[in-house]
Amino acid sequence: MPEKTPLTDIITARIAQQGRITFADFMASCLYEPGLGYYTSPGRKVGAEGDFYTSITVHAAFGRVIGREIAQMWRSMGTPTGFTLVECGAGNGRLACDIMDYLAEQETLMYEGLRLVLVEKEPSLESAQHEMLAAHSDRLTWLSPDEFSSGSFTFSGCLYSNELIDALPVHRVVMTSEGLRELYVTCTDGELAEDIGEPSTPEIEAYLKRVDVELHVGQQAEVNLNAPQWLAAAAKSLERGYILTIDYGYTAAELYTPRRKLGTLLCYYRHQTEENPYIRLGLQDITTHVDFTTLMKCGEELGLQNVWFGEQYRFLLSAGIVEEIEEIERSARADEEKLRLRLTLKKLIMPEGGMGDTFRVLIQSRGVTSPKLLCQRRIGG
Ligand SMILES: C[S@@+](CC[C@H](N)C(=O)[O-])C[C@H]1O[C@@H](n2cnc3c(N)ncnc32)[C@H](O)[C@@H]1O
Repeated sequence: MPEKTPLTDIITARIAQQGRITFADFMASCLYEPGLGYYTSPGRKVGAEGDFYTSITVHAAFGRVIGREIAQMWRSMGTPTGFTLVECGAGNGRLACDIMDYLAEQETLMYEGLRLVLVEKEPSLESAQHEMLAAHSDRLTWLSPDEFSSGSFTFSGCLYSNELIDALPVHRVVMTSEGLRELYVTCTDGELAEDIGEPSTPEIEAYLKRVDVELHVGQQAEVNLNAPQWLAAAAKSLERGYILTIDYGYTAAELYTPRRKLGTLLCYYRHQTEENPYIRLGLQDITTHVDFTTLMKCGEELGLQNVWFGEQYRFLLSAGIVEEIEEIERSARADEEKLRLRLTLKKLIMPEGGMGDTFRVLIQSRGVTSPKLLCQRRIGG
């Protein structure tokens, strides 16, 4: 596999013309350059033939448990006749399909007044989503990210996302004895290289200050200014209801601990991790862990209430994965298949090594008095 790609030439030419660029601009091109970015070029990204798995690809039970919680959200809002589900970063529509299937099967009254809005940066995924959600097509509409954040879209219901925020471009910083500096991407002798300079915007220092983080000299970190911007758009569009965010990440104190000297930036290519973001541009995924403290603090500033935050395994266990497993046990499947499914589902909830504890769930609300959600139940209680 060539380390250089057509995108390498485009970015190199851009730097030659306009000078060094921020890592956020570099990452935005690598992931979203029209036709050439990782998410904006053809090819399977998620699943066995792709570069990484998400919880959605593991089993439909993941979406069904989210469906259970969404039905509880609807109840907590007094079973309104209309309820809108919005998914941001909907990919191929698999998660939306599992949630809608569950609600159509188990929550017929809610399903009657349900509409689904998909927001996805890559417009070509619309046909895959259309196909995946054929059974629910009468409820389905689409919004571009620009339309979503324009301020003209409002709804009551639940906006959810899975692994959206880890895919938003980040700035990279390093603390030096002279103060905070930003890492830029430049070109030296025709090769991409890193350069260091004053932060490109005062928002970076303001971000770290908001979460009370002081990096140690020599420590590198990422600052995701797109995350609070996205949340601001989400909060503005939410008239009443919930925002449910699932992603891998930590609180700011855990994320920016001095022990994590090089930050959390990682690339994925064919199920292998890679630390060098300057190779295979557009062919490998680039991600960083999410800072959930920023989402919680910004949410409060935006008038949202933080309802629940915790590990994905706790969320799934208290919101109904055991009931889903019991249903599989009661089903007419062969014993061998049941065993295989039990082992598969373990991946979602295993606290160590699985997807259970690196993944976190944050639920925020607006206009719901004392919400009582399934995930707030005691596990096993
Ligand atoms: C890591 S993938 C996750 C896809 C899917 N949610 C899953 O879990 O399999 C991130 C997705 O978010 C999309 N995306 C990135 N920025 C976005 C934005 N601002 N609004 C909507 N979608 C976005 C990308 O195109 C990509 O499909």
